[in-house]
Amino acid sequence: MMESSRCDLRRATVADLDAIMVLETLSPPWSADSWKDEVDHHFVALAGRGEVHGVIAMSLVGSVAEVRRIIVDPSVRRTGIGQSLLSHGMEWAASHGAQEVFLEVSADNHGAIALYASHGFSPVMRRENYYGTDDDAVVYRWLVPGEGQVL
Ligand SMILES: CC(C)(COP(=O)(O)OP(=O)(O)OC[C@H]1O[C@@H](n2cnc3c(N)ncnc32)[C@H](O)[C@@H]1OP(=O)(O)O)[C@@H](O)C(=O)NCCC(=O)NCCS
Repeated sequence: MMESSRCDLRRATVADLDAIMVLETLSPPWSADSWKDEVDHHFVALAGRGEVHGVIAMSLVGSVAEVRRIIVDPSVRRTGIGQSLLSHGMEWAASHGAQEVFLEVSADNHGAIALYASHGFSPVMRRENYYGTDDDAVVYRWLVPGEGQVL
């Protein structure tokens, strides 16, 4: 378990699925089965202290990692939990051999984009109308610093 001043970070297990489903209120939400698959086969980390306040799901194939999901409980947003989870996911990816980390976000999701940009992610591709009419997706990438560079 990693600690920060705001929350504790730990890897999720299948015993955490109920808590994750409480966070999972987005549209279109992931099902409990999707999350079980995530916990079983990828990297899922939780943030909270006592309760679960946030979750991040990451995958890694070869040297390419992806932030597949990041959700923070609306009641505790803007308290630094999202950035703790994202940093934790980036560190996990870097320490497991990732050379680049991708994620996809709605072009309208200005809060998430601000979070990603502040962590070194840059836009590399726009998918027009990806989520529906006038709802574009933007793919962001973070290049993992090489040896001698600062993470
Ligand atoms: C995106 C999300 C994970 C951010 O979590 P969070 O815990 O609120 O983020 P943090 O408190 O760590 O914010 C860190 C920084 O990101 C930026 N940021 C985060 N949310 C923001 C918002 N709504 N508006 C503007 N900037 C925002 C700010 O720069 C913030 O720093 P500051 O509070 O000192 O200004 C959260 O809003 C969320 O769960 N949203 C719904 C799910 C979602 O959209 N996930 C991303 C899909 S790709």
